[in-house]
Amino acid sequence: MALLLCLGLSLLAAVQPSAVKNCHPGCHCEVESFGLFDSFSLTRVDCRELGPSASMPVPIPLDTAHLDLSSNTMGPLSDAMLAGPGYTTLISLDLSSNHITKISPSAFSKLRYLETLDLSHNNLERLPASCFSGLPLAEVDLSHNSFQEFDMDIFAPKINGEPVSVDLSNNKLVSVSTTVHGRVLYIQSLNLSTNQLWSVPRLEGLPLRYLNLDGNPITQIKAAAFSQLKDLVYLSLSGLQKLEVIEPFSFKGLHSLQVLDLLNNPQLKTLSPAVFSGLDSLQELNLSGTGVASLPNNMLTHLPSIKSITLEGNIQCWKTRKQGQFHRQLGQVQNNDVLNCNTEGVVL
Ligand SMILES: *[C@@H]1O[C@H](CO)[C@@H](O)[C@H](O)[C@H]1NC(C)=O
Ligand SMILES: *[C@@H]1O[C@H](CO)[C@@H](O)[C@H](O)[C@H]1NC(C)=O
Repeated sequence: MALLLCLGLSLLAAVQPSAVKNCHPGCHCEVESFGLFDSFSLTRVDCRELGPSASMPVPIPLDTAHLDLSSNTMGPLSDAMLAGPGYTTLISLDLSSNHITKISPSAFSKLRYLETLDLSHNNLERLPASCFSGLPLAEVDLSHNSFQEFDMDIFAPKINGEPVSVDLSNNKLVSVSTTVHGRVLYIQSLNLSTNQLWSVPRLEGLPLRYLNLDGNPITQIKAAAFSQLKDLVYLSLSGLQKLEVIEPFSFKGLHSLQVLDLLNNPQLKTLSPAVFSGLDSLQELNLSGTGVASLPNNMLTHLPSIKSITLEGNIQCWKTRKQGQFHRQLGQVQNNDVLNCNTEGVVL
């Protein structure tokens, strides 16, 4: 029985890379098969660093799912560069480190199944409106570019070839043919780390679960800056060298947020408890590398789910439940949550 089980599991888990015919010289192509009797297969094509003579589109096998075109000095991205046979089936595409300065409005329009796009380490300042229209994109990495502003209209649908502005807040536009399965947006992970953003961009209505704004010259986070990102689970706001102020109620509306990274924000000196108002699900707060070395105890009233807080100087705090006094008349025990830290005197 155990043997049979093992055999069954190994059949299911077997991934058998094999070589592919018609692989472009300089690229590396692999077919990965999985499932019982190899019923599933995915073609993965790696065309990194093809050298200066490479012309785009690079020919790829017909049913390619994953394509890596990083480090190819592609420059401005035209409509033709991603339009060859094999490109329509792509699920993920890596265009990082390509000196991309501009992207033509329809450059991605053939990639109807694209879920993951890496445009990191380029020289982009903006993207054309609706350039991701109709794609089931779940993950976009725009880190290490030159965005000073970020406009949500890159996700807006097109109608008759023209971008339309819609209220994205209910994420439904059933009648428009350009939507994917009746939904406008799939975007769950947006990485805008290391750009030139000077404020938190407007992202209302995007169904994001992960957002990274690390390393931007943001000076201030305003009240309700993230309102309506009710699906957000992980927010990273680290290495903001100029960040001095986080206003009270800045994180209002982030009911699903579990992890908040505020690491290495040296100008951040104090945080009022009301900053954390509305963070009903927050479990981890990391303030290491900031100027915040103590906390008011009553901030726990705003953080009902918190498990650990890390402060400057490697101070770790945990929430513990202090048993209240047994009440002789009422016969009940009151519990009070308190913060316990590995250093005394940091909870004020
Ligand atoms: C976001 O970008 C930064 C910088 O490139 C990187 O370190 C981080 O891993 C990225 N996050 C995700 C989820 O890919
Ligand atoms: C907080 O960040 C610091 C610095 O990156 C890291 O060493 C520490 O493990 C983090 N704490 C938690 C609880 O994740």
